[in-house]
Amino acid sequence: MKLTQEQKSFVEDLLSRMTLDEKIGQMNQESPSIVGGFDVPFSELIEMMTDGRISQEEFGRIMANATQDFHEDEIRAGLVGSMMVNDPRKNNELQKIAVEESRLGIPLIIGFDVIHGFRSVFPIAIAEACSFDDALFEETARMAAAESRAHGINWNFAPMIDAARDSRWGRVSEGPGEDPFLGSRFARAKIRGLQNDRSSPLNYVAACTKHYVAYGACESGRDYNTVSMSVSNLYNVYLPAFRAAMDEGAATVMAAFNDLNGVPCTVNRWLLREVLKKDFGLEGFVVSDANAIRECVTHGIAADDRDAGVQAALAGMDMDMGTHIYKDFLKAEVEKGTVPMTVIDEAVRRILSVKVWLGLFENPYVPEALIEAYEKSLPEKHVALCRRAAEESMVLLKNEGGILPLRRGQKISLVGRLADDANEVCGAWAMAWKPEDCVSILTGLKEAGADVCYYPCGGPEGDINLEEADRACLEGDVIVAVVGETDAMSGEASSKAEISLPGGQRALLERLLQSGKPVVTVLMNGRPLALGWEAEHMPAILEAWHLGIRMGDAVAAALLGDVNPAGKLSSSFPSVTGQCPVYYNHPSTGRPGSKSKFTSRYLDAPWDSLFPFGHGLSYTSFTYEDLRVGERGEELEIAIRLKNTGEREGTEIAQLYMQDVTASLVRPVKELKDYCRVTLSPGEEREIRFTLKKKDMGFYDNAGRYLLEDGLFRLFVGTSSRDCLMQEIELKF
Ligand code: BGC
Repeated sequence: MKLTQEQKSFVEDLLSRMTLDEKIGQMNQESPSIVGGFDVPFSELIEMMTDGRISQEEFGRIMANATQDFHEDEIRAGLVGSMMVNDPRKNNELQKIAVEESRLGIPLIIGFDVIHGFRSVFPIAIAEACSFDDALFEETARMAAAESRAHGINWNFAPMIDAARDSRWGRVSEGPGEDPFLGSRFARAKIRGLQNDRSSPLNYVAACTKHYVAYGACESGRDYNTVSMSVSNLYNVYLPAFRAAMDEGAATVMAAFNDLNGVPCTVNRWLLREVLKKDFGLEGFVVSDANAIRECVTHGIAADDRDAGVQAALAGMDMDMGTHIYKDFLKAEVEKGTVPMTVIDEAVRRILSVKVWLGLFENPYVPEALIEAYEKSLPEKHVALCRRAAEESMVLLKNEGGILPLRRGQKISLVGRLADDANEVCGAWAMAWKPEDCVSILTGLKEAGADVCYYPCGGPEGDINLEEADRACLEGDVIVAVVGETDAMSGEASSKAEISLPGGQRALLERLLQSGKPVVTVLMNGRPLALGWEAEHMPAILEAWHLGIRMGDAVAAALLGDVNPAGKLSSSFPSVTGQCPVYYNHPSTGRPGSKSKFTSRYLDAPWDSLFPFGHGLSYTSFTYEDLRVGERGEELEIAIRLKNTGEREGTEIAQLYMQDVTASLVRPVKELKDYCRVTLSPGEEREIRFTLKKKDMGFYDNAGRYLLEDGLFRLFVGTSSRDCLMQEIELKF
C-alpha cells in the first residue's frame, strides 16, 4: 500500500478539519446490533441458548421479534469509521449516509470475514496450502476480492497466516499450516491477490493479516489460551509470515486475542509499535480482534474498560472492533492528557490513508448492476477456479496395491453421511455460499458417470448403522468410505482434546474392512487427524479436507483417475493425539528419538509424525537422483534430476530443505527453503534447479537480531520433509 504525495496531503487536510469526536469515530468499528424483543445483551442471549437456559425454538421466536440497529444516527454524526455488514444494498445505504449526510463525508471501510472465498468458496487454507501453488493462492484471493467488493465489502479479514503446529487447535483450518516459509509465500501471494488488481476500482480490497501474533501457539491447543515463547522462536517461526505480508504491502493487521509472554497482543506496545509499525513498516492500521480490548480486563491486565482503552490506544491499536470503548472513553482521556492527541492523529491518519488508497472517496458505492450480476448464477470462470483449487489441494496419503484410481465400470458402494452433505463441503468460516453451488461427493460421482450406490450409515456425530454398512459391503465391488469432521468441528472455538476420527467412524471402517472388499477412505476434515489406526489398516487414504463448493467434482475426479493427486501436506499428521504438537522442523534435541529407551520418545506411541509435512503420493511415481550443491558468489545453486518412473503424467512438488548443523542457538533438524511444481509425462526426466541466497540461510537470536554463522550446512531435496537426498557444504558468509 503506497500513497502518492497528493493522497497524503488529502489525508492531512482532512485530519486538520476533524473534531476530536470525529477522529475517535474513525477508530470505532460497529456491527449491526440486535435490538428489541429481549431484555439482556445479545451476547448473553447467545450464551443462554448455548448453555441451555433457553431452547433453540425460544431463541428463534425472540429473534423473529427483534430488529437490527445499523447505527445510522452515529454514522451520520461521524462517530463510526467502519462497519461489518454482509448485505450489498445495506452497505450502499450506510455508505450513502456516511458520504452524503455526515459533516465531512468520510466513507466507511466495510469489513467482513472472507477467509477462503466469498460465494465462490475455495478449499480451507490448510488445504489450499497443500497445493504449494503460489499462482493459485493469488488467483483465488483475486477472485475473492472481486466478489467481496461487488458485495460492498472493501476490507477482508484475511489472510489468516498463523503458523500452527498443534492440531488440537480448531483454527489450524484457517491458515497455511506449520511452516514459516510456506506460510510466508502464502501470505505474499494472498496480499497480491487481494490488493493488487487495479484493472477496475472495484477489483481489490484491503487485506487484514491476522492474528498478530503467535495465536497458533496457544498452550495445549486450547483456543484463546496463553502463549509463552522465546524471542528467537517468535522471530523464526511466527513472525516471518507477517514480515512477508508487510513487505508485500498489506494494508492492515488484526491483533490476536492471546497474551504473548504475559502481555495481551491487544495492548502490546512492543509488538504493535516497535515490531509491526517501526521495523516491519506497516503503513495502514491495526484493528483489535472482536471484543479484545474489553477482554484485557478479564486477562487481568487492565482494571476496567477505560484502562483497557487507554492501554490499547497507547500501545498502537488504531481501531476498536466492537466494544465501543474508544467511543465511550477516549475523548475524556485525551482531554485529561492521558492519551496524547498525537496518538489519536496517528491512528486516524492510518485509517484515512487506507480509505484513500482503497479509492473509497471516489467509488464508495457498488453499482446495482454489479450486485445483480453477482446474485445470478456463478460465472463459469469462478466455478472452474473453485474446482481447480479443490483438485490441487487433495493429498493422497496412502495407496497400497494401487487401489486408486478406481476402474471405470467398478460398482462403488459409497458410505458415510458426509458423502451426501453438500452443506458440509465449505468448512469453517464460509459465510456466503449458496446451496445451489455446492456439490457433494455423491453428486460429484454420479455426475462423473460412476456406478454408485449410497449408504449413509452415519457420520462424525450420532450413531453408526452397522447393518447398513453390511448391506453396502454386499453390493459394491469397491467401498468408498467418506469419514471425518463436520465443518463446525474446526474453526474458531473448536479446539479438541482428542483428534482421532470422531464418533463411531473407526468402528464403521473396521466393519467395512471385515467384508474383505477393497475399501478406500476419503477424509473430509478441517485439521490434521490422528490416524495411526487408519494408516495401519486402511489400504488407501485420500485427504480431501473441506474443499469448497466443488468438492464433489474434485473428489470424484481423483477417485476415478481423471485427476492425478499432487498435493503435499502443509502440516504433519500425528499417530495419536498425545503427540501434539508434532511438526517436522523441530529443534535438534540432545537425544533424538530412536528405538533406544533414553531418547526423546514415548513409551506408548511413535515419537515422530505419522505423515510428515510435505508428504503426498501420486498415481505415478518419481525418483530423485544426483543432487549437486554448488556455490556461486552470494548464492547456492542446487540441482537434482527428477524422473517420472510411472505410467501416467503427474505433478511433483519438489522440496528444498536445509539444516544449519552447528550454530550458536539450537537449530531445526530441517527447514523448508524453496519448492517447485513440476509436471512430467511418463518416463520424462528433468533437471530441477533451486537458487538459495546465502543471506536467507540465517536465523534470529533472542534479541531479535538476524545472524548468519559460518560452518557446515546440509541441503536436502526430495518428495517430503522425510524423504530427501542430502549434500553437505561448508560456508563462510
Ligand atoms: C475472529 C477473527 C474475525 C473476527 C470478526 C473473531 O472472533 O477471531 O478472526 O475476523 O471475529 O468476525
